[in-house]
Amino acid sequence: MFEHFPRYPGDPIFSLVDRCRQDPRPEKVNLSIGLYYDDAGRVPKLESVRIAEEALQGESQACIYQPMAGAANYRLAVQEVLFGASHPKVLNKHIATAQTIGGSGALKLGSDLLRQYFPDSQVWVSDPSWDNHAAIFSGSGFTVNRYPYFDAATSGVKFDEMAACLAQLPPKSIVLLHPCCHNPTGADLSPAQWDEVVKIVKARELIPFCDIAYQGLGQGMDEDAYAIRALADAGVSLLVSNSFSKTFSLYGERCGALSIVCKDQEEAERVLGQMEFTVRRSYSSPPTHGGQIVARVLSTPELNAMWRGEVEAMRVRIQQMRQQLRDKIVALRPDAQCDFIVNQHGMFSYSSLLATYAQALRDRFGIYILDSGRVCITGLNTGNVERVAKALVEVME
Ligand code: LMR
Repeated sequence: MFEHFPRYPGDPIFSLVDRCRQDPRPEKVNLSIGLYYDDAGRVPKLESVRIAEEALQGESQACIYQPMAGAANYRLAVQEVLFGASHPKVLNKHIATAQTIGGSGALKLGSDLLRQYFPDSQVWVSDPSWDNHAAIFSGSGFTVNRYPYFDAATSGVKFDEMAACLAQLPPKSIVLLHPCCHNPTGADLSPAQWDEVVKIVKARELIPFCDIAYQGLGQGMDEDAYAIRALADAGVSLLVSNSFSKTFSLYGERCGALSIVCKDQEEAERVLGQMEFTVRRSYSSPPTHGGQIVARVLSTPELNAMWRGEVEAMRVRIQQMRQQLRDKIVALRPDAQCDFIVNQHGMFSYSSLLATYAQALRDRFGIYILDSGRVCITGLNTGNVERVAKALVEVME
C-alpha cells in the first residue's frame, strides 16, 4: 500500500541532535539545536514557572477541552508581551490571537489561512532562514522565494539589497520577517532599518509575517519587539507567530500563538473566527497545561517580574559567552576576524566560513554545529568555551 512513500531523510537539526546524543565522547559539546542551557550545561527549570506550576497543581481540576482559539487569559498575555499592555491595538481589541502548538503551529495556522484567502500571493523568506519556514509555507501550497539578507563579507545584513528586493514585490506578497535574533544568523536589523522596512511594506501593501521565537534574548523584551510594534503603529495589517519555548524553557509544552493585527475590532472578530475554523479542521483546540503555566506567570505581577528577570539573566549570559568566545579566539589567533560573534544577537551565531569547519569540529573534537555554519551560543559555558575556541582555531589552520 505505501510502497510509494519515499524515505524521509530526516530534519538536519533533529538528526544532528541524535548524532550528538550517540557520541560517546564525554567532552562533546552540543551547539546544534536552539535550546537555552545554563552555565552548568543544563536546560533550566525557571523559578517563575516552578511557582506557577505548583499553584496550578493545587487547583487541579478535570481537563476539559479548551476553546478552539485557546484560553482567553493566555491570548491576552501574549498580546501584552508582544505589543505592550497599553498598546492601542491591544486596548481596542484590534488583534486576533489564537494559542497554537508552538511557534511552528502558529506559522502553519497562518500559512494555511493566508493560502486560503490570498491564493495568488507568493512568500518571501530571508536568505538564509530557519529551514522550516520554507517547508511550512510550501507545505501550505505557496511558492517560496528568498530575499537577500545575510552578507558573507560582513556577517551582518545586506540591508540595501534586502530593501531593494522588498520594494519591487507585487502587492499582497507575504514577507516572513525575523523581528529579533535572526535564525540562523543572529544578524538583526537596527531600529532605523526597521523603520525603512515599515515604509516599504506600507507603500507596497505587502503582508508582513513576523516570526518571533526569542523575544528578550536579543537586546531586551521591549527592544526585541520594535519591528512588530512599529508595523502596528504604522497601521499595517500583520501576522505575528510567537513561541515561549526558549523564554519559558517549556519546549515540550509547545506554547505558541498566532496574532493577526487588524484594522478594527469587527475585522479582528472575523479573522479570529477564520482562525478558529482552521484550527478546528486541523487539531480542534490547543492543549491546556503549558499555556496555563505561561498565562499564570504573565498575569501575576510578581511572577511576571521574576520571569522578566530570568529572561534577562539568560540574555546577559549569552552576551558573556559571545564575548568570551571571541576573546579566547583572538587571544590564540590575533588576526582572526571574529567580531561578528559579539555583533550578532540571540542564541545563534553564523558565518559562511563556519560551515566549512562543521564536519571537522564534529569528527575531531565532538563539537556539534549545524552544517550550515550555525552555532548555538547557549551551548557554551565557562567549562567548555576555552576548548571550543581552541578547536575553532585549530580547524582554521
Ligand atoms: C532551532 O532552530 O534549533 C530551534 O528553533 C528548534 C527547531 O525546531 O528547529
